[in-house]
Amino acid sequence: MNAGRLITFEGMDGCGKSTQAGLLAKSLSSKGHDVVLTREPGGSPGAEEIRQLLVEGSPERWSAETEILLFTAARRDHLERTIRPALERGATVISDRFADSTRVYQGASRPELRALVDQLHDAMIGKDPDLTFIIDMDPAEALKRGLDRNSGEHRFEEMGQGFQDRVRTGFRTLASDNPDRCHLIDGHRDIDAIAHDISRIADPHP
Ligand code: ADP
Ligand code: TYD
Repeated sequence: MNAGRLITFEGMDGCGKSTQAGLLAKSLSSKGHDVVLTREPGGSPGAEEIRQLLVEGSPERWSAETEILLFTAARRDHLERTIRPALERGATVISDRFADSTRVYQGASRPELRALVDQLHDAMIGKDPDLTFIIDMDPAEALKRGLDRNSGEHRFEEMGQGFQDRVRTGFRTLASDNPDRCHLIDGHRDIDAIAHDISRIADPHP
């Protein structure tokens, strides 16, 4: 399963993950790499169906426990159908969010469930990225960028500023706890400056 490389982008809603994941995919593809650009929740037909259950509706729609199970179910399908086959053929998989999002978001809403998140990950996923970019920025600015998109997927964004502050702290802690694979990227800069840093780390010998 480890022939290819799994690169993930993480951070709060609106911080620029999709933009940067797309730019890195384009840059690596233009150099001849086999690249699969994907996202969570989603990334396979079954997981995209589960995504709709998760991102639409009121913030109280699911309990924290049910939410963890749904995110893990979606990730398992994504892993089986999209990520694992691509890694086995040697591709670079770039995923806009992965397991760190569950650790941070579900951990931020109910810290006592963090152990359960880790147990489920070990039992059902058992795969960590080779490289993770955590885009760090002021939650108010990220929230404004996210809401400007008008996507209709606002269930998590509606959880408010206090929740987004905990998410930022959660991602920063995760980066310092996993310095071998995580790079904290300053997301306040312009798109090209951020992309330049990311590309230098992901492809140090272009
Ligand atoms: P995410 O995937 O993290 O939610 P997006 O990449 O979709 O974030 O970006 C959210 C919005 O902010 C988009 O409209 C995007 O064009 C814009 N954006 C992304 N990066 C930057 C940046 N560095 N500076 C200003 N605007 C940005
Ligand atoms: P996403 O589509 O990446 O939102 P955005 O582009 O706005 O960042 O993810 C949808 C929401 O799901 C987002 O608010 C984060 C949340 N989420 C979790 O709470 N746990 C998870 O495991 C994942 C993958 C996402």
